[in-house]
Amino acid sequence: MSWTFFREFLRNCQNTGAIAPSSQKLAETMVTAAGVAKARRVLELGPGTGAFTREILKTLAHDAGYLGIDVNSMFIASLRDQFPNLHFEQAEAQHFDYSSFLIDGGFDTIVSGLPWAALPESIQNALLEKIFSVLKPGGVFATFVYKGIHWMPRGQKFRRLLKRRFPRVELTPTVWENLPPAFIYVASK
Ligand SMILES: C[S@@+](CC[C@H](N)C(=O)[O-])C[C@H]1O[C@@H](n2cnc3c(N)ncnc32)[C@H](O)[C@@H]1O
Repeated sequence: MSWTFFREFLRNCQNTGAIAPSSQKLAETMVTAAGVAKARRVLELGPGTGAFTREILKTLAHDAGYLGIDVNSMFIASLRDQFPNLHFEQAEAQHFDYSSFLIDGGFDTIVSGLPWAALPESIQNALLEKIFSVLKPGGVFATFVYKGIHWMPRGQKFRRLLKRRFPRVELTPTVWENLPPAFIYVASK
């Protein structure tokens, strides 16, 4: 249990969207599904306390670029301490101006820890439009969802929006070694 994470959940449960960070097994599955190893430019949305970031850093090519965006200033301060060689910005991902990071046509892969099922449809939509616009053609957008929550109304809305926006959406097997168990949508542009 990460106390920073749990405290931020108590402070703002909608944005934090979970009581505990993702597990090592989910992080490994995420980094593989998103194709981080062969990416030149990686965007991470909602890194939180860095569960996926640690695994991204292990896998990222030494000359590849990384940008992490989280709305929570406590998380951003801790991420900057933990990963001094990676670049983080505190912002709402749907409103951030990505223009100075869009070298060579955009990001090859976008790894997301965003809490979709906790977000209203208007924000889900704004985020997906932004994500699609900054992803390179042929790029991958990978985002996890908790098993079961994906059948709740906001989870279903997200699934419909994702399938409407991206031509191809695949699912990884469920990662049971996570609290709660989760799987990953892997959407290709
Ligand atoms: C469920 S936590 C995931 C944290 C981490 N990736 C993990 O898997 O343990 C969701 C994260 O998304 C961030 N977040 C929520 N809405 C956001 C938004 N609109 N833009 C950027 N970050 C956001 C929260 O601050 C939080 O760090």
